[in-house]
Amino acid sequence: MLNSILEQGSYMILADFERQQHVLDLARRLIADAVESLNGPTARLELQRQGLSMLHHAITPEQIGPLRDRVMPVLRPALLDMVCRIGRLLGIEGEFFVDDYTILRINFPYMVAREATRVAENPGIGRVDNSTRQQSDARKVVDPDYNPKAYHNNEPPAAWAHGAHRDTWTGHSRLGVNLWWAVDDVPEEASMVFYPGTLHGAYEPDKRSLYLAEGYPLPKPSKMSLRRGEMLVFNPEVLHATHLNTTAITRLALSARINPLRPRFSPMCFYAREYWHSSSNIEAGHFDRILRFEREEHLEPTVERTVAPPAFPELVQVQAACSDSSWERVCDSSKLENGGKLRVQFGRENVLLMRTSSAVFACQAKCPHLGVSLADGFHDDNQVFCPAHGLAYDLPSGHSSCQALRLQTYDVEERLGGIWIRASNRANVDVAA
Ligand code: FES
Ligand SMILES: [Fe+2]
Repeated sequence: MLNSILEQGSYMILADFERQQHVLDLARRLIADAVESLNGPTARLELQRQGLSMLHHAITPEQIGPLRDRVMPVLRPALLDMVCRIGRLLGIEGEFFVDDYTILRINFPYMVAREATRVAENPGIGRVDNSTRQQSDARKVVDPDYNPKAYHNNEPPAAWAHGAHRDTWTGHSRLGVNLWWAVDDVPEEASMVFYPGTLHGAYEPDKRSLYLAEGYPLPKPSKMSLRRGEMLVFNPEVLHATHLNTTAITRLALSARINPLRPRFSPMCFYAREYWHSSSNIEAGHFDRILRFEREEHLEPTVERTVAPPAFPELVQVQAACSDSSWERVCDSSKLENGGKLRVQFGRENVLLMRTSSAVFACQAKCPHLGVSLADGFHDDNQVFCPAHGLAYDLPSGHSSCQALRLQTYDVEERLGGIWIRASNRANVDVAA
């Protein structure tokens, strides 16, 4: 199984494994303890009554960081021990390595998180052992191009979500195996988004975000729900992202990483996760013995990937100004093949045309969440998927699972051998460049 994860990008869901219930109970109890220590016994009782997925009723987004600071140091040894056993379950013999950096992922519902202040922590931020925290903070390098605030449109960090990426783009080791563990039930629309078949594709990150650059069309995303206690095991070099949490519940997951070999890093990222535990130390109960693999001494050349991604849709310029009443001819019908997309500059509006098996649809070309180009997103007969955070937009209506995020749509007609569009149902959204 390990080989198929590493070489083919397969993934698996572990439903039953050693120490699963023990560590799950511990994690859930520590979260409840932290809620009590932050907001008192009534908050804990209320959380027990409503369930852990209502954590956003028990703490504020600003308390996510302090909660992690209380939970992670206590949970760490049991978590590392369980992760090490999973390495053996996957068939790793001999010594292997477990990343010191582990993440308690707390994603409040997007509509709640986006009201947070700037001090509320990003859901993707992890913790290292207290003994390495200072060293690892001191090793942090600032890259002048990297600007996650700009990518996230200045939304508060609590509302941030990972765009499509490979983990080596963000300082993680090569040949890693990621463990992503549901602390409570995780519905599809608060889960991970996967792009099967992308392991060997020649994709590049945008240096400003370290997420997939514009111009690489993606295949259909796989979204999967997990039940409490289930663990997803996957190759983080397969493109993956965080689904924008459009549900009404808080997503709770723990993530960790195994490296079957000594960690090595890609020079493409300006920093590296250098602190690791060896399986032999963990198995001997030495959770405080941490090894450092210094980035500069453990770089590996960037892997040459040979499969070129499909071509980016062509851009057609239409001079006419967009108005509610007039139809404008955009292009010959033959320009838009079945399943294809065409980008149209329609006056000052950016429009995306998509042909399905039955019709042509037109909508604003950029996702209203963070303005990522939908031209890179997969579409089928019913939906177009945002290539950043997997949100699905209904093709006729432009609606998504988030009430605040809706696409402007356009009326489309095909006649006289051409495709004609006009603005429809103006939803008061800005669709300009
Ligand atoms: S940019 Fe986030 S869902 Fe589209
Ligand atoms: Fe990742």
